[in-house]
Amino acid sequence: VCDSGDFATIDKYKPQDATTNPSLILAASKKPEYAKLIDAAVEYGKKHGNSIDEQVDATLDSLLVQFGKEILKIIPGKVSTEVDARFSFDTEQSVKKALHIIDLYKEQGISKDRILIKIASTWEGIKAAEILQSKHGVNCNLTLMFSLVQATAAAEAGAFLISPFVGRILDWYKASTKKDYSSEEDPGVKSVQNIFNYYKKFGYKTIVMGASFRNTGEITELAGCDYLTIAPNLLEQLYNSQEPVPKKLDAANASSLNLEKRTYIN
Ligand code: E4P
Repeated sequence: VCDSGDFATIDKYKPQDATTNPSLILAASKKPEYAKLIDAAVEYGKKHGNSIDEQVDATLDSLLVQFGKEILKIIPGKVSTEVDARFSFDTEQSVKKALHIIDLYKEQGISKDRILIKIASTWEGIKAAEILQSKHGVNCNLTLMFSLVQATAAAEAGAFLISPFVGRILDWYKASTKKDYSSEEDPGVKSVQNIFNYYKKFGYKTIVMGASFRNTGEITELAGCDYLTIAPNLLEQLYNSQEPVPKKLDAANASSLNLEKRTYIN
């Protein structure tokens, strides 16, 4: 999976799926060749908002969907489009925004089957994903996930996919301990390994997609994970290294691990 909003770059790596977020799309939208998409989004915003705030909101929604639509022309699979962080602690608003994004895609002739709505893994976000999945058949990608507690709640909520983060956990550890970590010791890698093993041991169907990588060592340590979403600069390094990458995570091994089942939602 390619973690980028820049569809020309995504095309270079031919991934199955792609993940975006508002910052990635903002970064991509600065390319002069994408100016037409910005103009179309601004026009959409002017037509669909009365106040300036409403216009900005409608412009952002349109921009996320315009870029998502271009990405979907390139990839065979699904694109993740994020409900922005303003709604992370509001289940009702997250559901409303997600359904609006799905409607905007529908207006463009794109089925909800090709979209993952990306939502922060707060309690409210996990509840929003549960409602979107069970009542509306909308698949979600629970992002900003840093712990087994969040992952367990997401699985119990029936989330389609989770994105446990690696690099941001490493960032925090490095900043607080002033130490460097090898890929084997990397606390972000360990977090994803634990979540993967827990899901496989207890038979959860939710897809585990490692995200937020800082180096290729973190990625190769997690080879065998269901999915990994990787930024273009790291895909380029992996491609150039041409090193074979042995599988380190294996669902079959998880069943023999001594893990305790937890329950958070029910
Ligand atoms: C993935 O879905 C996230 O958008 C991304 O991996 C976050 O990475 P960062 O921690 O580098 O922002």
